[in-house]
Amino acid sequence: MKPLPKGFLHGADYNPDQWLAYPEILSEDYRLMTLAHTNVMSIGIFSWSALEPEEGRFEFGWMDEVFERLHAAGQSVILATPGGARPAWMAQKYPEVLRVGKNRVRNLFGHRHNHCLTSPVFREKCGIINAKLAERYGKHPALILWHVNNEYGGECFCPLCAEAFRGWLKARYHTLEALNTAWWADFWSLRFSDWSQIEPPCDHGQNTFNALALDWRLFVNHQTIDCYQAEAAPLRRITPETPVTTNYHRELYDLWKFSRHLDVVAFDNYPFWHHDPRQGFYTLVAPNPAEEDGLGLSPTSDYFVAMEAAFDFDMMRSLKGGEPFLMMESTPGSANWHMASPQKERGLALLSAMQAVAHGARSVQYFQWRKSRGNYEKYHGAVVNHAGHENTRTFREVAEIGSLLESLKGLAESRIEAQVAILHDWEAMYALTEDNGILNDLFHNKPAGYKRAFMPYYRALVENRVSVDFVPPDGTWWEGKKLIVAPMWYLVREEQARRAEEFVQAGGILVTTYWSGVVGANGLCHLGGVPGPLRHLMGIWVEETSSMHSHRSVGVRLRDGVEFEAGQFADSIHLEGAETLSTFTNGIFEGQPAATSNRFGKGRAIHLGTKFPLHHLRSFFSSLLDEQMIPRTFPADLPPGVYATRRKSGNGDVVFLMNFGDAETIINTTGLGWVSHPDGALIHTAIRLPKFGLKMVLEKA
Ligand code: GLA
Ligand code: ZN
Repeated sequence: MKPLPKGFLHGADYNPDQWLAYPEILSEDYRLMTLAHTNVMSIGIFSWSALEPEEGRFEFGWMDEVFERLHAAGQSVILATPGGARPAWMAQKYPEVLRVGKNRVRNLFGHRHNHCLTSPVFREKCGIINAKLAERYGKHPALILWHVNNEYGGECFCPLCAEAFRGWLKARYHTLEALNTAWWADFWSLRFSDWSQIEPPCDHGQNTFNALALDWRLFVNHQTIDCYQAEAAPLRRITPETPVTTNYHRELYDLWKFSRHLDVVAFDNYPFWHHDPRQGFYTLVAPNPAEEDGLGLSPTSDYFVAMEAAFDFDMMRSLKGGEPFLMMESTPGSANWHMASPQKERGLALLSAMQAVAHGARSVQYFQWRKSRGNYEKYHGAVVNHAGHENTRTFREVAEIGSLLESLKGLAESRIEAQVAILHDWEAMYALTEDNGILNDLFHNKPAGYKRAFMPYYRALVENRVSVDFVPPDGTWWEGKKLIVAPMWYLVREEQARRAEEFVQAGGILVTTYWSGVVGANGLCHLGGVPGPLRHLMGIWVEETSSMHSHRSVGVRLRDGVEFEAGQFADSIHLEGAETLSTFTNGIFEGQPAATSNRFGKGRAIHLGTKFPLHHLRSFFSSLLDEQMIPRTFPADLPPGVYATRRKSGNGDVVFLMNFGDAETIINTTGLGWVSHPDGALIHTAIRLPKFGLKMVLEKA
């Protein structure tokens, strides 16, 4: 496999096919790319109707020219396959390529990403055009990477997908009897007597059958990956040397599984900068992150948005065990699909691009190079706006980012080393969000609620100045970890619990929380008591769990007498070998443990039976980090709104200090002997970081 070019990639989605009637604009593009310090363009993403205007009639002339001119202008090419938007002729002649909604109505032609995940015609047509692209451009010296389709997501409820679902179930359960048993189908007379009776979920039919809904989610995952693999097959066959990726957006499908099939992880990053984090949109759901512990920042501080982005970046880096990832898209200005479109305040363009780098990205790429003249994204941020020249604030900021990245050569391939991990499992997420009954308000049908539930734990670690990885529940990439935090580890399988025991036995600390070890495969409740297969390891039995509305709380007292309010969940814990770390001081579980710790082999298994306030999580994790002698990214407390990451470099670590807080701040560096990076200037006693300021320093090895 050809490695990606050395150094950072810097570039954008480029859509010359929208501008073929404007040759002077196309020529201008290549001049501007040089000025913007870009070195890569992603092309062809939605070019199907330009490449195959009628079935079987192909037009590659324009793309040939784009390849040559990009190459001549010093730009590498990431070539996309066009499956993200099928042309009108295809939808008209083969309606099966279009998606069917949950209501069982087939979509008309329109929008993008509107393709069936199963349709043999869609896959065949992708196969033909993708093979032609691979044959024509596979050996072109500018080509560095394949970009398959675009932002996979969504689901299709057509008869072909329903039949594929049944096939997937047959392969999984072999007999209908086994399926009925696994699905607890004697509930509400749900038992099936023929495979053909099984229908995907829908609002006017099966909408309360949790086991079916969970398997449907796993199937959609499987089928999405299968569709990706079918699209990638000609590329793999014809150009086995060229790496292949697809660009992820929100983490709504099982990225542990998907990423096994990518050569490099690519992520599209669109944080809600300058929005009010208290408003709900995608991941930004209640409760207000600032109320959880605002650190004295304003409740609308961009710091909370930055923490969401940091979480995503750490996830992306973790998907291939710490390999640097691509930030395939980000907006150089504002997006056009957020609730409002504020332009980035001074400094934030550079800081938000470098935030990705600080977390292990090896590219900064934008959507889009040039604003389209018409249609849905004409107001979406772009490197070049409708004025068409380089004399704009955004263009200057992009050029500045480009030259900074050029000066950081060597760092692009470098890694982040984390001894702390958060356990994240999509199957557990699906089970939790499909199920009814713990905190429906936050979780039922709300994958974003699941992410929100992780944020306090993530923040408590990051705000303790440590690098954080994510790990899957099966033990992969657990080596080298000394602390694993598993918030709401709802679905736990026996073998996962055994792996967790080995981890603790060998000296690790595992932290679980309320609503962990409740169900196993198929969302079937563990018999014999919560936390199911983790019970021996945790040394506790949880008799019941109470979840509460945000206006209610419960008192907690630590062993040293300190008291505060906790909430959201309360476990009724019985000790079975563990010791009590804190106690409920009121409510129905008054006098019972609120948190416990169980010595197990050389390590400890800690259970948090309520949602502790962030300030306590922070100090609690701090003591665990000290106990495990886990290195920090920065040696002393940082001002609110500032956080640090560390990437290994040839001659030491590069530390990124980022100020997402509300105001300028000073960081004391007395005695550290650090030098500024990449200019090498000695840093004396302090670093002044303006609002949205970034400072990179080198700590020599
Ligand atoms: C997504 C898509 C792009 C573009 C951007 C706009 O990430 O992949 O094609 O639509 O959104 O933000
Ligand atoms: Zn379908």
